[in-house]
Amino acid sequence: MDQVKEKIAHLIGQISRHDYQYYVLDTPLITDGEYDQLVQELLRIEGEFPHLILPDSPTQRVAGQPLPGFRTVRHRVPLLSLDNSFSYGDLDEFHRRVKERIAPSEPSYVCELKIDGVSIALVYEDGILTSAATRGDGITGENVLQNVRTIRSVPLRLNKPIPRLEVRGEIYIAKTDFLRLNQEREEKGEKLFANPRNSAAGSLRQLDPQITARRPLRIFIYDLLYSEGVEPADQAQLLQFLSELGFPINPHWLKTKDVREIQGYCREWEERRHQLDYEIDGVVIKLNSLSERIVAGNTNKSPRWATAFKFPAEEEESQITALELNVGRTGVITPTAVMTPVLIAGSVVSRASLHNFDLIKERDIRIGDRVLVHKAGDIIPEVIRPLIEKRTGNETVPEFPRYCPTCGATVIRFEGEVAYRCDNINCPARLKESLIFFASRDAMDIEGLGPAVVEQLVDKGLVKNVADLYSLTEEDFLSLDKTAKKKANNLRQAVEASKVRSLSRLLHALGLRYVGGKTARILAEQYGDLDVIGSLSRESLVEIPEIGEKIAQSIVAFFNEPENLETIARLKKAGVNTRENVILKESGPFTGKILVLTGTLETLTRSQAGELITGQGGQVSSSVSRKTDYVVAGADPGSKLDRALELGIPVLTEPEFLAFLED
Ligand code: IVH
Repeated sequence: MDQVKEKIAHLIGQISRHDYQYYVLDTPLITDGEYDQLVQELLRIEGEFPHLILPDSPTQRVAGQPLPGFRTVRHRVPLLSLDNSFSYGDLDEFHRRVKERIAPSEPSYVCELKIDGVSIALVYEDGILTSAATRGDGITGENVLQNVRTIRSVPLRLNKPIPRLEVRGEIYIAKTDFLRLNQEREEKGEKLFANPRNSAAGSLRQLDPQITARRPLRIFIYDLLYSEGVEPADQAQLLQFLSELGFPINPHWLKTKDVREIQGYCREWEERRHQLDYEIDGVVIKLNSLSERIVAGNTNKSPRWATAFKFPAEEEESQITALELNVGRTGVITPTAVMTPVLIAGSVVSRASLHNFDLIKERDIRIGDRVLVHKAGDIIPEVIRPLIEKRTGNETVPEFPRYCPTCGATVIRFEGEVAYRCDNINCPARLKESLIFFASRDAMDIEGLGPAVVEQLVDKGLVKNVADLYSLTEEDFLSLDKTAKKKANNLRQAVEASKVRSLSRLLHALGLRYVGGKTARILAEQYGDLDVIGSLSRESLVEIPEIGEKIAQSIVAFFNEPENLETIARLKKAGVNTRENVILKESGPFTGKILVLTGTLETLTRSQAGELITGQGGQVSSSVSRKTDYVVAGADPGSKLDRALELGIPVLTEPEFLAFLED
């Protein structure tokens, strides 16, 4: 039994270390496959000896049951908030007051980024995470431990078994993750989050930890609220100490005595905030010395030794000049506000999707309105609200469309849906969007077949259906504007080359509702043949864990539609691959080999190279380890190349890699 316990402890130690490397340091030391093997091994042993499952086992991150509600917890140390500074004058004033309070000492400060997320307090007992609470009113918060445990960068066990430790930090969602999350929600017809902060807060307040586990939450820790036996002298030491314990610390902090340097830091990050993948809403300036903080003291709400320099909110005023209606590939009609151009967060904004007519009504947005605009996730322009006090009476309430703006068909609205749709499957606008999607990078990846070419192909009547793409001749392409022989030939070849794309790409490209790239991959891997997928019943589809009722219904409906079946038959006849390459997978030049890609390849995109590898039986890994068989290096390779050379792993150039495939 002791041996089993030892093995479990060893596996937990290994997995936790790799979680730390991956989620905190962003430098994995082993491949995903190797990591999975460790987890599988631990799961196997825990399955055999369930009484030996430890609370800090990584398999227990998502182990909780849905709760009826959150319990409140009283914070041992009140979670104070910060006083704000809005100008450099305010900062000077702050410095003057601190100096006065701690005289004759000269203050030294630490400046940190103010992460725009949700404040959280974590408690560790004997090094094990035992409590996680939201800030609440500062005195009591909500116990969200089950949810916080699902965040992979939160250590379940610290590197040192300190008897009791409490820390404070900020839970957030990265901008790119936020955009992806909202995109998925839009595809599923779910309500969108307004910004990364709201999505983090909403995710943390889920009663079912399974839902939270699927949200890409992250954390930075910046404060030590309480500790037994360890006493850092200042903030700089404190951050170092927190980092040694295994917590993610934001790397961009600065220690300084010089107020001008503080101003410089504020100015620098106000400008550079858009380069970060998480939102910051200011800078926090803290007195460095912890003993001087005691001298400076607190008010009952906030410390006198710290201030938050707030960046101005990036909202601008503009005016809606028109409403544009766009018909998407599923027929959904999306209203877009056309506005007088304004500069927001580093670029000019002149249009913003209003998503649907319910939202227009809800926010009472009218054509002619002066409106407040921002960028959601720092990227997607969005109308926040109309400035009702600035109305002149000349504004008009937009009317929902009765007829399709492109083909004139009667617009319908399905029950339970917010969207208005053009139901004419031959609507040229729908066809154009479907073709653009079909040819796009993540789908069939037909180079050069972008919106401009598609527009003409449809307008000239050369393409009425995606399958028509494969019977286009070079002459057809030559008949397009600005298309000389070379371009026509390239287009023709790009279409031809797309015939061998994987089944998952084809399935994704066909644009079934609710079937995104991930679902397409799952289906393709599981069934390997488009005809087999088309013959599945709703019942057998929902047996796949990732596929819910809505997706299953959509798949069955798609394959019940005679027009779709005809398109598939025509694609097959044209020679388009409709099977996952099962045979090649078993024996190719890369069978059983692990390859790592680094740098920019000349002729292939990353995903194309990846597909060639997996299509030939190999596996692609994101990091170089002793188990790596080859590293394929393009221009500007990163540290992966150094590591390969260090470990003596063969490095292939792109031509060498391609030659391998021809053997
Ligand atoms: S220090 C007593 N540092 O900003 C001082 N706060 O009111 C505690 N925040 O609710 C705060 N990044 O959630 C500190 N680097 C950082 C921060 C930070 C974000 C949040 C925190 C707090 C709010 C200020």
